[in-house]
Amino acid sequence: MRVKKGIDELRKLFDLTGKVAVVTGGSGGAGKAISIGLALYGADVVVTSRTLSTLEETAAEVRKLGRKALPISCDVVDPESVNNMVKQAMDEFGRIDTVVTCAGIALRHPAEEMPIEEWQKVMDVNVKGTFLSCQAVGKEMIKRGEGGTVITIGSIRGLQGHPAGYSGYGTSKGAVHLMTKQLATEWAKFKIRVNCIAPCIFWTPLTEPILKDPEMYKIFMQRIPLGRAAEPEDLVGAAVYLASEASAMVTGHILYVDGGTSAW
Ligand SMILES: NC(=O)c1ccc[n+]([C@@H]2O[C@H](COP(=O)([O-])OP(=O)(O)OC[C@H]3O[C@@H](n4cnc5c(N)ncnc54)[C@H](O)[C@@H]3O)[C@@H](O)[C@H]2O)c1
Repeated sequence: MRVKKGIDELRKLFDLTGKVAVVTGGSGGAGKAISIGLALYGADVVVTSRTLSTLEETAAEVRKLGRKALPISCDVVDPESVNNMVKQAMDEFGRIDTVVTCAGIALRHPAEEMPIEEWQKVMDVNVKGTFLSCQAVGKEMIKRGEGGTVITIGSIRGLQGHPAGYSGYGTSKGAVHLMTKQLATEWAKFKIRVNCIAPCIFWTPLTEPILKDPEMYKIFMQRIPLGRAAEPEDLVGAAVYLASEASAMVTGHILYVDGGTSAW
């Protein structure tokens, strides 16, 4: 067998020591778990979302792990706000190795009643916000010339329709999946790998009302072979993998963390 890497190198495949990660939506369920996960494996973390005070909890957890945390207020829909956030991150750390775009919203109505303003809002945050975040960080990675990793957050709803009113959300997540492949293709020459984590429904304060409703719970569980909703922590392994050397040959991939839904 041809094994070029030594045991010590293989042992460090998931090590993020010395890396700097930007996590948008860092106050939310996924953003918090992923920020902590990246810090646990060695990264310093720039945690962002619109309201600075909501980031303190995530920042405190990162610091408890001995890593640096920089909370920054940023509205991902506003290009100036995103550019300003990236500038602050660069001023503080001088580098960004990873961006994880957890900022996202879901507004559900039956398609025939979906207010177009709400449909547009979902597209703005989930699609435009993801693109602006990737673009602003991507530019810095290209300038530095040492590559990097971009991790978008899609959804199983970007692959499959669902009867529960996802005409805006599902459309936006389908766009995020394709955006991931497009950026991966364009930025491979800069050694920037771009991948997507696409979860099934997971527990957060926002999904709790759905998951605690026995009827809705039954509908959602019908298509999850592992038989449970995910937890935010279920995304950590995927994020560390995609941010690290462990996934060095992986780009343009949609990694479903979906309990087998996409296999059904
Ligand atoms: N919860 C689920 O079941 C589920 C399933 C699949 C995919 N996702 C996706 O995972 C990602 C994270 O979702 P979550 O469940 O952790 O949600 P959450 O509501 O807990 O967190 C969302 C985060 O995005 C931030 N945000 C919203 N609008 C923003 C804006 N304009 N600018 C900056 N930040 C903004 C919020 O402040 C919050 O920090 C989203 O993209 C969501 O679509 C969630």
